[in-house]
Amino acid sequence: MNGIKTFSSLPYFCRGTVIKGFGRGSKELGIPTANFPESVVDNLPHDVSAGVYYGWGQIGSGPVHKMVMSIGWNPYYNNTKKSMETHLIHKFDKDFYGSELGLVILGYIRPETNFDSLEKLVKAIRTDIEIANHKLNQEDAREFLLHDFFKHPVGQSSTNGTHSSL
Ligand SMILES: Cc1cc2nc3c(=O)[nH]c(=O)nc-3n(C[C@H](O)[C@H](O)[C@H](O)COP(=O)(O)O)c2cc1C
Repeated sequence: MNGIKTFSSLPYFCRGTVIKGFGRGSKELGIPTANFPESVVDNLPHDVSAGVYYGWGQIGSGPVHKMVMSIGWNPYYNNTKKSMETHLIHKFDKDFYGSELGLVILGYIRPETNFDSLEKLVKAIRTDIEIANHKLNQEDAREFLLHDFFKHPVGQSSTNGTHSSL
C-alpha cells in the first residue's frame, strides 16, 4: 500500500455552522479548532476515512485561509463520536462559534494516531501544519482560492458537501 491513499471524492467542499467542541483545542493544545455539527460529519463520503487532511477554509465571506483538519474519533481523548475539527492557519482575535465555515478538503496527510503524551500529539499537529503549508503553496492547490465556492459563500449555506473539480 505504501501508505499512499487516493480519494475519488477529493476535492470535497462542505459548509456548516461552527459549534463548540470540548474546548481542549485552544486550552490544552494551544491549537484552536472549529468543530462542525453532526449533519456535516454524517455527510462525508465514505472513502474520506479518519485521518488528517489539508485544504482551504473561509469564515463567512471573509478571506480564505490555509487549514489542516482532523477527521475521526481523536483516540488520544477516547471520543466516541466522529468529529471534523478544523484548524485555520491564521491568528484570529476571537473565536467564531455560530459562524459559517466553508471548506475544501484537498488532500490527506496521515492516519489518526493514539499518542502516549500530549506533547507528542502537539508535535504531530505542528508537523501537519508544516506539511499543509507546503502543499498549499503549490500551484494546483492555490487554484482553489479562485473557486466560486469561496466567491459566493452567502446564500450557499448548507450542511451538505459536494466534490467537484475546477
Ligand atoms: C491537524 C490535527 C491533527 C490531529 N491529530 C490527532 C491525532 O492523530 N490523534 C488524536 O487523538 N487527536 C488528533 N487531533 C485532535 C485533537 O485531539 C483535538 O483537536 C483536540 O482534542 C481538541 O478537541 P476539541 O476542540 O473538541 O476540544 C488532531 C487535531 C488537528 C487539528
